Order: sequence, then structure tokens, then C-alpha cells
Amino acid sequence: MNITVCTTVVFSPTGTSRVVARAVASATGYTVRPVDVTYRQADVQAFGRDDLLVVAVPVYGGHVAPTALQRMQELQGDGTPAVAIVVYGNRAYEGALVQLSEFLAGRGFVTVAAGAFVGEHSYSSARYPIAAGRPDEADLAVAREWGVALRRKLDAAATPEAVDASRVCEPQSPLLSKQHFAEFIVSLQQGKVSPLPVAPTTAPDRCTHCGCCVERCPVGAITAGDELHTDASLCIKCCACVKGCPAGARSFATPFAPVLSQCFDERKPPVTIV
Ligand SMILES: Cc1cc2nc3c(=O)[nH]c(=O)nc-3n(C[C@H](O)[C@H](O)[C@H](O)COP(=O)(O)O)c2cc1C
Ligand code: SF4
Ligand code: SF4
Repeated sequence: MNITVCTTVVFSPTGTSRVVARAVASATGYTVRPVDVTYRQADVQAFGRDDLLVVAVPVYGGHVAPTALQRMQELQGDGTPAVAIVVYGNRAYEGALVQLSEFLAGRGFVTVAAGAFVGEHSYSSARYPIAAGRPDEADLAVAREWGVALRRKLDAAATPEAVDASRVCEPQSPLLSKQHFAEFIVSLQQGKVSPLPVAPTTAPDRCTHCGCCVERCPVGAITAGDELHTDASLCIKCCACVKGCPAGARSFATPFAPVLSQCFDERKPPVTIV
């Protein structure tokens, strides 16, 4: 195939999906054109058979982050090869990869490679680390090798050859960890755990009103000049504002953090097919 441009399409509030997409795309050796849908809807765009799309999105609750799908509604392929990548916080990605591949197929793309990578969990903190620092160098080495293998496949093929995303083998957590997490979910449903916070909060004594959180928020839930308040009806709990606050004034005190940190501390490797 004669691919000329590789377009990366990412929704990535805390940056991990963006890093993985970049590593894969640059390893292909094609000219890379980044499209970032974290802060805005993708423009109406038609892709042809000499394009390649590398799409990377985070997993929220075992699904593709819903805002990512909304933002990519206008993309249109024409038998265009695409790489489907989901990035998750070392718990599980469940049906998200198949969901992304089906979403792309519904818009005229052919999934020629699919993979799931681990990124530092949005809820990770110094106190409750969850996949802290990932994707790390070992993850990115896998991403690059995969990009090279993808290039080889595309060079050798006359037409895009689809892969079955359900064949990607999801790494499993130890049974005890899964049980512990399931028990936590049940106690949450039974109201035995304090209710989930609806949005991060700001410590008034720490906030310098620098406005970084306003810029970082993908859905406009924080207003400039009113940074002590968050519109919970808009907030998607992505924690971009928490991780991006230079004063450490934003926090999201979710009871998920200690449980995830404890249950899912075993390193899961990236998994890919091409
Ligand atoms: C609301 C929400 C739900 C999440 N659900 C999951 C999940 O089901 N499984 C998992 O392993 N990680 C989950 N995560 C963690 C993210 O998938 C992970 O941190 C990812 O690297 C974030 O991508 P980004 O850096 O591109 O924003 C969730 C994060 C958020 C904010
Ligand atoms: S980023 Fe932090 S310090 Fe800056 S306005 Fe937001 S909460 Fe305040
Ligand atoms: S206010 Fe909510 S949606 Fe906006 S950055 Fe913070 S967590 Fe994400």
C-alpha cells in the first residue's frame, strides 16, 4: 500500500494515550499529522486509502471514554487502514478495544492493528500509586516495535487486511485481586462506602488562580476567575485538572483510589496484534 500520511487522533486528558499514539506513529516512518480531540470536536474529515489513522483513547469503566467517541463522530474513512489503541489504568480494558474497532468500522475504517497499553491511572497519586509513570520506556519500546511491524505489513499488502480486535489477549489480574475489587463494588452499590465524589475540589488556601485547570479541562467544567467551583454536571472525572494543578490545590478524593492501588499493583504488559 502507498500510504503517504499517518494521522494520529487522540483524546487524552492526562496525556498517556497521546504518548502511546505518538510512539507507534513515528515508528511507522510515515509523515505524522496529529489531530487532538481532547479539547475540541474533530473537524469533518474524509480519509482515503493512502491514509493511515492511529487512534488512541482512554478506557473509562471498561468502555471507550464516551467524550472521545462524541469528538470523533465526524471522521470518515473509505476503506482507510486504522490502528485501534486503548489505554487503561492497569485494572482492565474489558470490551473497550472491540468497541473502538467497531466504532472505526462504522465510519469506513479497517482496523489493521489493535492494541491495549497501560497508562498511569487518572486517580493515581503519590499516596495511592496506580500504574505510576506508565507508559514507561519498556511500554514505548513495545509501541515502537509494533509500529515497525505495522509498516512492514502495510508495505507488503495491496489492500488493508483487517484484524479481529477480540483476539487481543487481555492480561488478567490474580483472582484474589479481582474478588477484592468486586466486593468493593458491591459495598459501593449497597451504600456501605461513602458516596463517590461528583467532581474534584479546590483547596481555597492553595489556589493561586493561575487558570491552568481551566485550560486543561476538556469539557469546560471550570470557569476562569471561578476556579474554586466545578460544574459537576459537565465534569467527566478525567483528573486532568488534578494532575495539572501546579499548586497541588485540586484533588479528587475517590474511594476507588486506595482499592485500585491495592488490587492492581501487578504490572500488566501491553498487548498488540498486527
Ligand atoms: C472515569 C474513569 C474511569 C476509568 N476506568 C478505568 C477502567 O475501567 N479500567 C482501567 O484500567 N482504567 C480506568 N481508568 C484509567 C484510565 O483509563 C487511564 O488512566 C488512562 O491512562 C487515561 O488516559 P489519558 O492519560 O489519555 O487521559 C479510568 C479513568 C477515569 C478517569
Ligand atoms: S490550576 Fe490549581 S492553582 Fe491554578 S487555578 Fe486551578 S486550582 Fe487554582
Ligand atoms: S473538572 Fe472534571 S472534566 Fe474538568 S479537568 Fe477536572 S476532572 Fe476533568
